[in-house]
Order: sequence, then C-alpha cells, then structure tokens
Amino acid sequence: MQPPPGAIVNKPSFPLRPDRREFLRTSALGLGGLALGGWGLLASSRGRPGVAVRNPLYLPPLVAPTGLTLDAAPALVDLGGGRMSQAWAYNGGLPGPTLQVRSGDRATMTLVNGLDEDTITHWHGMLVDEANDAHPMYAITPGASYAYDFTVNQRACMNWYHPHPHMRTGAQVNYGLAGAFLVRDAEEDALGLPSGRYELPLIIRDANLDKTGNLSYTARRGGFEGKIGLVNGTIDAGVEVDRALYRLRIVNGANARIFNLALGNGAAFLLIGNDGGLLERPVALGSVMMSPAERVDILVDFSAAMRGDRIMLRDLDSGWDLLEFSVTGSLAGSGGVPAVLSSIPRLSPDDVVNTRTFSFDGMSRINGQVYDMHRIDLQVPLGVTERWVFRSAGNAPHPVHVHAAPFQVQSRSGGSGVLQPWEQGWKDTVLLGDGETVEVLIRFEAHRGVFLLHCHKLEHEDMGMMLNFEIV
Ligand code: C2O
Ligand code: CU
Ligand code: CU
Repeated sequence: MQPPPGAIVNKPSFPLRPDRREFLRTSALGLGGLALGGWGLLASSRGRPGVAVRNPLYLPPLVAPTGLTLDAAPALVDLGGGRMSQAWAYNGGLPGPTLQVRSGDRATMTLVNGLDEDTITHWHGMLVDEANDAHPMYAITPGASYAYDFTVNQRACMNWYHPHPHMRTGAQVNYGLAGAFLVRDAEEDALGLPSGRYELPLIIRDANLDKTGNLSYTARRGGFEGKIGLVNGTIDAGVEVDRALYRLRIVNGANARIFNLALGNGAAFLLIGNDGGLLERPVALGSVMMSPAERVDILVDFSAAMRGDRIMLRDLDSGWDLLEFSVTGSLAGSGGVPAVLSSIPRLSPDDVVNTRTFSFDGMSRINGQVYDMHRIDLQVPLGVTERWVFRSAGNAPHPVHVHAAPFQVQSRSGGSGVLQPWEQGWKDTVLLGDGETVEVLIRFEAHRGVFLLHCHKLEHEDMGMMLNFEIV
C-alpha cells in the first residue's frame, strides 16, 4: 500500500532477521552455572507431534525505537508455510518489529496512519507522559502521522505496543497490529541470562480465518475467541533449538483468550519475570496462566534433551500445540540461572492514603458508567500510595489494566481466592475472575495527566469498560 500523501516516509533499514552470528554467545558459567535442582530436565520425548511439518517461527526484526517510522497499514503476511493473509500490520510484519531500548534512552518514533480509519499506538507498560501514552483523544486520521518522543525511565522488562483508538482497538489488534517492546538495563545484563538467539520474544494470540484464508474478525460481546493459535503470527509454529537454556519472553496478545501454557512433556520451567520485569527469585512451575496483555519471562532448559527431541509449548485449555521446539543443535552454554534475580521494594499498606473501588459491571461499564473520552472519572494525586480494589460483578474474566504506573497485587478473595507466583512483583494487568475481588497497591510517580484504566478484554474495552483518571 502506498503511503498516504503528506506522510513522513522513512523506511527503516533493518535486516529481515537478526544476524545469528552477532548473537552467538557462550557463557563462562556454562552448564556448571545451572544450579537447577531438578527442574526442567527434559526427559527424552520422541512422541509424535500433532503436525508433522511445522512452520518456521517468525522472528520480527529487532529495531531501536530511535528515528523510527512505524507505518500502520494493510499488508499481506505469511502466516506460515505460504498461507498468505490480508492483515493490518506495523511495517508490514505480523507482529511488527521488536523494539529494543535501554533504560535511559530516548525513543523517537513517528506513527503513520495508512489505514482508512483512525488509530493511535500505545506502548503498553511504558511509563510515559500523556502525549506519548495514546489516550484515544490523540487518535490520528487516515494519512496523518503522530510523533512520539520520550525518555525510557524504568527497569528492564518486556512490554508491547498496539493500537488504542476509541472503540476500534479490538479490530485493529485482531487484524495484526501489535509488537514487542523490550527494555534492557544493567541489572539484567549482570545476570548473564540467555540472550541473542537464546532469547525468544513470543506474542501468542488466537485468530479466525475466512474461507479465503484471510484473518477475519467479528466482535463478540463476551470477547473474541478464535479457532486457531498464532505464535508471532505463525500457525503451527516450530523453532530449532540447541541443547541449551532458553529465555522465552511471552506476551498474551489475544483479544480475550486466556492461555494456560505448559510444556508438552510435562517438564517444569523457571518463571523469572512478569509485566514489570524480573522477580526476586526464580520459581519452578509446571504451567502458567496468562490473560490478555499479561507477560511472563521464563527459562526452559533443553540441555538434557537429546538431538531429535521435539518438545511442544502447549495451551492446556484449548489443547493447542502452539510452538514446537525441535532439538537440532549441540550442547551450548547460553547463560545461567541466578539464585537471586532482583530486589523489589514493597509498597506498604501502611502508606495508603486513598482506597478506591472499581466495580467491573456487565461487559461495558466500570462503577456503572460507560466510557466517555471527555469525562474525567477521578483524580489521583501524584506520589502517594493508594489501594485500588477491583471487583467483578459478572461477565468476568476481566483482565484489568492500569496505565501510567505498575502496581503490586495484595490479595484475591472470592473466586479462586489465590495469588499466583506470576502475580508477584510489579504488574500492570491482573486477572479478575468471576465473583473475585483483587486488591492492589499503586503509586503514580512519573507524570501528571490523563490516563486510562480498563478491561483488556478488547471487546469489553471497546464497548466502554474503561475510564479516565487524571494524575494531579
Ligand atoms: Cu494494552 Cu490501555 O492497553
Ligand atoms: Cu497500557
Ligand atoms: Cu472485561
């Protein structure tokens, strides 16, 4: 598609794939550094995979968000094995380029709207000011462009970017507009975690295809659920791995579906981080549940696998085999597992200045009200600790997302009644189940301005399960 007249045209010159050699890295820790204590020793599994031939996992180019132009436009994408589909994509890729910055860096990007409807791009998880946060008031018309400029001031983590226009987020994300956004810092570097080809950003979502094989989207009030799974836009994805430790950076990029991820051979993996970056210590898990927009950072150890083994990343809920790791490489030291990852300062209930309750009502309201772009629903002082209580009044699950600050989950009552290991540390999205009350502590420290609180089930968001709060 031709860029609209007047658009700033500046195609980035990134390689189609990161140069593998550049990322080859062996760690002095080697396998001796893997004090694994029995987790993740993958038993040899030569079980027949469900699909004999897997499609190579798409790995979007890694790009620095400096002087970058992001074209949101119709594109023809390969969903794997030459299954071409019409999509809406950032710079022609589904997902768009993987943005990578270091904390402290300045990001300068221009969004060009090549769609024939309004759009604006939100950097989910980035702590930016109002003008850079994609409030729907800032949506741009077809052919227009929007200049972003912000300094990254937060710890290492995996964020992601996607559209945030009023009432059209569900459609635009579903047709393919999304990408990963990695933040690096010195604390993370010092850990010697697997990197380069041993670190895989994975955006997992579902989709529907029409008879001609094009992505098709119909908003359903209860949330879109597609019939197939995509990992980085690839159907029946597969990736070849060495006998080494891998770091998987996963985002649930689905409109509404919750994934319950596990390895097909039942092996454990190590959870090391979530939405807001590293946890304090690794946690061994057999499965992890992710609602839309949540992220997890996990380590999977293939060093005890045998060449020829095929190990599946599976969604236990749908039964989908999402991604097959096929062990083809040799034994390699790709990094170690530190016993201590980070230290996380705790927000204290003793410091709570205000308690606010948000009731997620039906499929389109919070505290009884449907979203109005121009109404400020509450004001929150900058720099104080608040307790926010999320309550579901039916039609859950609601993945609750807050812009502008991460929070710490304190408790869940009703429903499942438990906090999961992946709900420790810093979060920006938390799953609110039927009949549940979830309490979080939050403190806005970065910027004054108007920001959003909403359900990240995109159909609920589009129908109005969202509100504006102003940080004053
Ligand atoms: Cu991921 Cu307000 O959005
Ligand atoms: Cu967000
Ligand atoms: Cu909801």
